[in-house]
Amino acid sequence: MDKNSVTRTNIIGAGEVGSAISVDMDKNSVYQTNSFYWNTKGSDFLGAIVLPFYGAFVSEEKCQLFGDVSGKKMLEIGCGNGQSLQYHGERKASELWAVDISEQQLEKAKHHLTACGLSAKLICSPMEEECGIPTDYFDFVYSIYAIGWTTDLEGTFDRIASYLKKDGVFIFSWSHPIHKCVVAENDLLAFKKCYFDESWYSVSLDEGALTLSDRKLSTYVNALAKAGFVIEEMIEESDDEILQSQDDNNDFAKKAKMLPVTFVIKARKR
Ligand SMILES: C[S@@+](CC[C@H](N)C(=O)[O-])C[C@H]1O[C@@H](n2cnc3c(N)ncnc32)[C@H](O)[C@@H]1O
Repeated sequence: MDKNSVTRTNIIGAGEVGSAISVDMDKNSVYQTNSFYWNTKGSDFLGAIVLPFYGAFVSEEKCQLFGDVSGKKMLEIGCGNGQSLQYHGERKASELWAVDISEQQLEKAKHHLTACGLSAKLICSPMEEECGIPTDYFDFVYSIYAIGWTTDLEGTFDRIASYLKKDGVFIFSWSHPIHKCVVAENDLLAFKKCYFDESWYSVSLDEGALTLSDRKLSTYVNALAKAGFVIEEMIEESDDEILQSQDDNNDFAKKAKMLPVTFVIKARKR
């Protein structure tokens, strides 16, 4: 992994959350704020939140959650610039589909895939909404650092379950909620935010703004169970080899040695 890419994977950490402004959650204004951000900012720094990376220090090459995807139908939720689709396309997935709220990101994904000699069915829509994705169709639905943007976690997991065939697999990664609460200060880790606080907030980033909430791990686990998923594996640890390869002064890597910064869940539709 490019050493410089690590800091940019930490899109929103406890530092940014510390300067956040509380907001009431209004679905349409969240769609508007976040799609504007992804349309105009944040497109070229996705180095470590695209497959094979699930996040800064976790890699599919080590975890092997997907296994052999040849001949499999894949749907990505929040595909960004399409590099994770490329990863599966190069591994001979039979169909690539994706949904993303940002037209600009989808445009980039389209160009990127075309340049790689691949194609995908790309749909511009919030993941929360009905958007014509077929049901009982996919072998895998996956999402790398996008699920947490949903305004309706239970509704989104219900939709994802409906897209999957029976026994189909859902894999997603997101920022670990502990990482959002704890900040590194003078060689100490300090709790800056209550782990149980799931209220919505807005943060300024790259002269843009994003609106989100930090959900507890139990919120994800319970929403998966409610949607009919069985969890097969969960990953919280950073990969030692990736950590060792980082600069000694990399504060994010130092933090990742002490606590989880990313979590990945693999779940199966019953
Ligand atoms: C960090 S990027 C994901 C990167 C992507 N996994 C990749 O491999 O390039 C997050 C993506 O989620 C999308 N997104 C944010 N909110 C969304 C929503 N409610 N529905 C669908 N996509 C959303 C953004 O437009 C952005 O492209």
